[in-house]
Amino acid sequence: MTLLRLSAVSHAYSPGEWLFEGLDFELHRGEHVAIQGMSGCGKSTLLNIMAGLEVPTQGEVLWMEQSTASWTPEQRRTCRLREMGFVFQAFHLLPHLTALQNVMVPLLLGGETESASTEAARSLLTDLGLQHRLEAKPAQLSGGEQQRVALARSLVHEPQVIFADEPTGNLDTVTASHALSLLIDLCRARQTSLILVTHSDAAARSMGKCLRLTANGLVQ
Ligand SMILES: Nc1ncnc2c1ncn2[C@@H]1O[C@H](COP(=O)(O)OP(=O)(O)OP(=O)(O)O)[C@@H](O)[C@H]1O
Ligand SMILES: [Mg+2]
Repeated sequence: MTLLRLSAVSHAYSPGEWLFEGLDFELHRGEHVAIQGMSGCGKSTLLNIMAGLEVPTQGEVLWMEQSTASWTPEQRRTCRLREMGFVFQAFHLLPHLTALQNVMVPLLLGGETESASTEAARSLLTDLGLQHRLEAKPAQLSGGEQQRVALARSLVHEPQVIFADEPTGNLDTVTASHALSLLIDLCRARQTSLILVTHSDAAARSMGKCLRLTANGLVQ
């Protein structure tokens, strides 16, 4: 099944200054895709377009073969909350919440009860080896631990797709490769699609498909 489709998508932040033009892309359920490209070529912008956070200047974004162009902001928000998970280079954990509370956030926002959210978050953090750090605040965690909390937060609500934008860029090489394997294994086990933006060739090769973003779209 095609989860996400981009058809003839072009984007410019200023008139005539195209980042990319005529981009076509298709993401199947459970598929893992790496996206590479030079700094500033528009990878984060493209992820934002895929996630409905940015509307492309031209072209169409389809979610489960339905055009998203006529969606209300509320429909976009609901789709993002239920069907998508995000991991970023700078983790973006909420500093005043504990590890457990950070992972509960997507569930609570999606309308889950406090007790069900606590249980699901505790269980996933335990699977990730963080059962002894549930009550720690992000500042008290190592970089690798913070990224494991962020991975748990991206997955806890069982989304259809994870968007990971250089998720290991802030970690040392060994910790980065552990975090990445963990993300890939978790997505495989759950049949979750994964779109990974990375500057690492090794990381890109560990994905099912490797694409490069150019001015003319995504190329193999
Ligand atoms: N909201 C915005 N308004 C105007 N220009 C923007 C905006 N967001 C990004 N840009 C510009 O668009 C270009 C692409 O940015 P983007 O962040 O998508 O690149 P990237 O490929 O993710 O780069 P990096 O590898 O450094 O993260 C850059 O030149 C950036 O300055
Ligand atoms: Mg970027």
